[in-house]
Amino acid sequence: MAKKVILDCDVGVDDALALILAFHSPELIVEAVTGVNGNVPLDSVFSNIQKMLSLIQPKRKPIIARGADRPLKGNTIHAHSVHGKTGLGEAKIDLREGEEWWQKYLGPADELILELAYQFPDELTLIAVGPLTNLALALKKDPEGMKKLKELVIMGGSVRTRGNVTPYAEFNIFSDPLAAHIVFESGIPISLVPLDATHQVFLTPYWMDERIKPLHTPFSNFVIEATGYDLSNHRFKNKDTIFLHDPLAVGAVIDPTIVKTETLSLYVDVDEGEYYGRITEVRDGPKIDVCLEVDAERFLELFVARLR
Ligand code: BDR
Ligand code: CA
Repeated sequence: MAKKVILDCDVGVDDALALILAFHSPELIVEAVTGVNGNVPLDSVFSNIQKMLSLIQPKRKPIIARGADRPLKGNTIHAHSVHGKTGLGEAKIDLREGEEWWQKYLGPADELILELAYQFPDELTLIAVGPLTNLALALKKDPEGMKKLKELVIMGGSVRTRGNVTPYAEFNIFSDPLAAHIVFESGIPISLVPLDATHQVFLTPYWMDERIKPLHTPFSNFVIEATGYDLSNHRFKNKDTIFLHDPLAVGAVIDPTIVKTETLSLYVDVDEGEYYGRITEVRDGPKIDVCLEVDAERFLELFVARLR
């Protein structure tokens, strides 16, 4: 039976790829897409969600909602250097007047998440691939309501490996450590997909030239444009590979056998300083299924197949 999901995202190039993967997968029914401040400011995130839905043109229109425009505490950081000015890298998608591939929710994302949790008790998987602010706001408002979610699958953190913002912290957790702390302590079943796993799945010139380019679909073209892949010189601009962080979180929901997990209790550093946003393993506390290994080949095959 297909799994009902909500995708909470901060679109972002890899978030955009995660949206394509989710909507192209019959194993999932995407009920809603919610936006949160992160890679780019919330206005750009919300516009990117709509642009991606215009590209995908889903048969079943999801509900979309704007979420938090800043972290619970501390300063906001963005990642324009990775995701470009708009957040969609070098891709250009124009929104056409009068064509809406979504249903707009008028309230904030945390309210929509709670409303859907009550509507589909123990059925919904919430896939969070941005900072966890929307989830924390919903938990503060109604912790019992949030317990009606079946599971949270979160892309974030670096557990036994280096961070990507500081040596200790990963972007999504560093952007709002307090929110991550609240979510990790919530007692809701959580699967965490940290850098330890996502750094094992990346696009290389081989995948771009041999597997993605020949597809010639609007989606394969989008991957080439958004990642800034130069087809003539067989290389990405300024980097060797593109990590598929957020698509892996979606992949782990589509086919949980793609990843191997360990059950750990985790603590998030919320105090400003060197270790801000760091995750450490601790003895006590709610248990979290942490993905540490992934069958990279199988995941990449799935990702590419769903670009058709
Ligand atoms: C995470 O941070 C963002 O830049 C990506 O979209 C991904 O969710 C990786 O650290
Ligand atoms: Ca993201």
